[in-house]
Amino acid sequence: MLLEIPGVLNPAQLQKIEQILSQADFVDGKLTAGMAAERVKYNEEMQQSPQQTDLLHRIIMSSLGHNTRFHSAVLPHRVADLIFARYRPGMTYGDHVDDPIMGGRGGPRFRTDVSMTIFLRDPESYDGGELVIRTSFGDRQVKLRAGDAVVYPSSSVHHVAEVSRGERLVALAWIQSYVRDPGRRELLYELHQAREHLLRAQPADEHTQYVDRSYVNLLRMWSEL
Ligand code: NI
Repeated sequence: MLLEIPGVLNPAQLQKIEQILSQADFVDGKLTAGMAAERVKYNEEMQQSPQQTDLLHRIIMSSLGHNTRFHSAVLPHRVADLIFARYRPGMTYGDHVDDPIMGGRGGPRFRTDVSMTIFLRDPESYDGGELVIRTSFGDRQVKLRAGDAVVYPSSSVHHVAEVSRGERLVALAWIQSYVRDPGRRELLYELHQAREHLLRAQPADEHTQYVDRSYVNLLRMWSEL
């Protein structure tokens, strides 16, 4: 499931992030690419100092922590350290799937189930730079407002179209979900929507209780820790 999550970051948070990033160094994105990605990756990534990492992580994680849509769609178990990527004119990232295992170097290793892009610049400020995700229903182009995010299965083939004007700036995260199968996550997300609605509209109804218990017990049946 490919899902847009509007308003993950508010204008004040975006401004703070821009301020931190304006003082940071960016290095060639090939340095963090695997062998297959290296051939198609032409972008830059922020070289983070521990203080900057800590601050950026806190801003974005506290915001995601309160986001119901993120939680119900992604069912996050572990979230990787964020990466900040910059694309200037001529830069692009060709078709690839994301690395299956991340972490290590002192931290825990985890499986990547969900990829997330948080857009940090408004779409009018640059040309190109669409995130293009291949789905079974064709390619989906995603270019969202600053502060909005998109989540999609890490197994999807995707690319970033070449930027021809301005600068594309994004935050990237990879998440291990409690539920690894994208189809099961999608089903749980829809059942969660129904459950929330029923719990508000008809809390005492017997059928609300059936839906509520089905959601909770399906999540228990399918989740891995
Ligand atoms: Ni990718």
